[in-house]
Amino acid sequence: MVDTTISLPVTATTTAPAANEDKWSSQMYSKHASFVPALGAPVVQLLAPQTHERILDLGAGDGILTLDLEKQCQSVVAIDASADMIEAARRNGCRDAQVVDGHDLVDHVELANGQFDAVFSSAALHWMKKDPVRVIQGVHKCLKPGGRFVAECGGYMNVAEVRTGLHWALKKRGYNPEEYDPWFFPGVQTYRKMLEEQGFRVESIELIPRLTKLNTDVAGWIDTFGFSFLKPFEGDKEERKKVIDEVQANLPFSEDDGVWHIMYQRLRFKAIKA
Ligand SMILES: C[S@@+](CC[C@H](N)C(=O)[O-])C[C@H]1O[C@@H](n2cnc3c(N)ncnc32)[C@H](O)[C@@H]1O
Repeated sequence: MVDTTISLPVTATTTAPAANEDKWSSQMYSKHASFVPALGAPVVQLLAPQTHERILDLGAGDGILTLDLEKQCQSVVAIDASADMIEAARRNGCRDAQVVDGHDLVDHVELANGQFDAVFSSAALHWMKKDPVRVIQGVHKCLKPGGRFVAECGGYMNVAEVRTGLHWALKKRGYNPEEYDPWFFPGVQTYRKMLEEQGFRVESIELIPRLTKLNTDVAGWIDTFGFSFLKPFEGDKEERKKVIDEVQANLPFSEDDGVWHIMYQRLRFKAIKA
């Protein structure tokens, strides 16, 4: 086991990552996290796209699920805050992929005009932590009356072991992990209330535990998704690696099949614009 003793925090300072800083790498995403879109099929099924429909994919990433939607409906607009991910989505063949932050959707002249039959989102909403209510308001404005918002994101207790490990590693080094934690993992009651208060009727909402097999290892996962926590160590590659290795070393490795897993907890819902 790696040493986990907490030395008394010398309050370390560094700037927490700006919300609009693009730290996403489509290359790392396809190497370490192609399981994410691969596990998105149940959300697509819940959406049940129709051939005549116009759909908005919010937080589309490199567009793997967008392409799947494109085959099933009239048109899809893929939006994502990361320019690198949108570039990849275009390279992968998405017809309409645009760099748009979910928080800005509500003021978007072309998209927030009540023209979409459905808004779809997979594995993205929990990254929109700055103002999740504003994101829901944006989705509402994009939809036609009766349109549906179908999504899955990280929910309460998602990736709890890794998140705790990262908090521990930062605290131990004198940083306040809350400042670097980029995730909003709501429970059912919280998110239902948020949807209802913004004018949605919730048809279904549930938390789904999912033991998730990784492409590579926990270190690769942290390298891909943990960039916000690693911000204090950007200028110190050795310390950055030490943090990643330390978190992985304190997690159990499955001996059953020799593959790394992380316990995910998904929040999946279908809501209708009332
Ligand atoms: C785990 S990926 C999921 C991508 C894709 N939906 C999939 O299933 O493969 C999360 C995506 O959310 C995007 N994202 C994060 N914050 C965002 C924001 N504020 N607005 C729009 N997209 C955001 C990231 O750039 C990233 O592409």
